[in-house]
Amino acid sequence: MDVTVQGGDGRPLNKEDLGLLRDIFIHSALMGIYVPFFYKAQFGDITEKYFPSLGIIHDVGRIISLLYLPGQYHEIEARRREDPLKSYFEHESKLGFADTSHCLLGMYFLDLWNLPYEYLDLIGAHHTRPAAGNETGKLCVVLEYTDRLITAIGASSAGAAADLRSFHCGGITTSFLEKAAASITGDRINIERELAADGIF
Ligand SMILES: [Fe+2]
Ligand SMILES: [Fe+2]
Repeated sequence: MDVTVQGGDGRPLNKEDLGLLRDIFIHSALMGIYVPFFYKAQFGDITEKYFPSLGIIHDVGRIISLLYLPGQYHEIEARRREDPLKSYFEHESKLGFADTSHCLLGMYFLDLWNLPYEYLDLIGAHHTRPAAGNETGKLCVVLEYTDRLITAIGASSAGAAADLRSFHCGGITTSFLEKAAASITGDRINIERELAADGIF
């Protein structure tokens, strides 16, 4: 398949930015698998209506940021290389990009592009842990820790040490998390293989 990805300036993305886009795809694909997995493990029930694409779409704002605000995106990525166990959002906030955060950009484009509207609040709050115990609150909690976990496990395979005991994932035990971490690592390898076979990245 011959696909060219263009940046906001209409030029094809360079190799570095294609690599960053690939990272978002891998992260989002893993979120697509593990948000429902942890939601079911923590709450024991199923909110099927959210699961077909929530994990895939949750970081749509990062794609927008990479394509249209590349200076901001590169600054955040430089910090992530120094401290890879922190989430994208933590670096984004610390660098003073709260007004153009990927959460806000994601909400804006979700509306503009007519993507599933029920995800609006979830995308806006997916790095926070709201106190409300309703469905949105529960999903935000799972999105928040699954995101941190997948980020930390990706960083672990790159050499940084993630301490799974420091993850507060509802009532989920450390041994359950260790098994999930091994599974996430295996899925990451499979996704990378599939992307390479497709020849897009
Ligand atoms: Fe995010
Ligand atoms: Fe994310």
